[in-house]
Amino acid sequence: MIERTNYSMLQHNTFGIDAATTCFIEYDSEEDLQEVRKRIAVAYHGLPILHVGKGSNLLFLENFQGVILHSAIKGITEISQTENEIYVRAGAGEVWDDFVDTCVKRGWAGVENLSWIPGEVGAAAIQNIGAYGVEAKDVIYEVECLELATGDKRIFSCEECHYGYRKSIFKEQLRGQYAVLSVVFRLKCSFTPNIEYGGVRKALTELGIEPDKVTMTQLRNAIIDIRKQKLPDPEVQGNAGSFFMNPVVEKVVYEQLAQQYDSCPHYDQPDGRIKIPAGWLIEQCGWKGQNLGPAGVHKKQALVLVNLGGATGEDIARLSETICRNVYERFGIAIHPEVNFIGKNGLIDVK
Ligand code: EPU
Repeated sequence: MIERTNYSMLQHNTFGIDAATTCFIEYDSEEDLQEVRKRIAVAYHGLPILHVGKGSNLLFLENFQGVILHSAIKGITEISQTENEIYVRAGAGEVWDDFVDTCVKRGWAGVENLSWIPGEVGAAAIQNIGAYGVEAKDVIYEVECLELATGDKRIFSCEECHYGYRKSIFKEQLRGQYAVLSVVFRLKCSFTPNIEYGGVRKALTELGIEPDKVTMTQLRNAIIDIRKQKLPDPEVQGNAGSFFMNPVVEKVVYEQLAQQYDSCPHYDQPDGRIKIPAGWLIEQCGWKGQNLGPAGVHKKQALVLVNLGGATGEDIARLSETICRNVYERFGIAIHPEVNFIGKNGLIDVK
């Protein structure tokens, strides 16, 4: 167990916000986490607890007056194999893209479209990360957790996680109650490329690769290229990837919009509703590449807010509120942050 008090979270949030926490504790095994529970009961009783991964989806608005926990549980192990499927356990503290890299190198198919997403395995299962037509829920078999209040271990099947677009039971009914220890993935032994989303097919052709003959490694590399072109590197410019979720609207709302803007991109949802890229709505409002003080909108992808240098969480939040208001005034469509806002007592609900 590593314990630090009055600790700056600067290295633990990709927005590059210099906010402090009363205490930061890192653990590297289930037994260690049980010790952490005892330590909190003795030294930090009653303080709010916040569990973080790589901090790639966090916005600190002020110093956090509580205990931040971080899992450093590692390990990627094959647990069983059938004729077509392979079950693999990954520790919550594994870096997500290291996990994807290992899968691709070993020929385990299913996560290659989720290449180069920042963050760690535990948070990926809580957030149901997604990109290029694949979501974490498509490959998660079960999530192994520890209940923080009791120390009891509980395994959630994928169904029990109640996954939806960027959401799970761990973000809603059970928010803050469980720490993820590890995640078991159900992957495929043979590779069928999933290249129908957005620009993937086109990107492969541009790279001189015949899309239907792409290998898993080539697909991973192409997706890394697309992401690097569109998304800013947090090492260079603080950001948290997509800042907003894409709104899902009733078909009639989309039809009204399409009458005015025939270029409006849209994705049909299984329930008959329509997902509209928030990046497009924000760009139509003129925000792409613009800024409010040190908080900016990325010039290549309007869904991404960036720290132009020295921004506080409040600066970014002010820009976010202004954008949400402008989009609502112009289109009558509410967009909401995907990023978690953290106040002095923990997560803040931003409606
Ligand atoms: N678009 C614009 N202007 C912009 C940005 C996008 O017009 O500034 C339009 C374009 O028509 C584009 C469409 O929106 O074709 C979709 O854009 P993109 O493919 O970049 O995807 P997105 O919907 O903006 C989502 C995820 C990303 C994920 C990509 C690719 C969310 C909140 N974001 O973005 O996830 O990488 O799809 O699958 O669902 C993240 O969560 O941090 C993230 C980066």
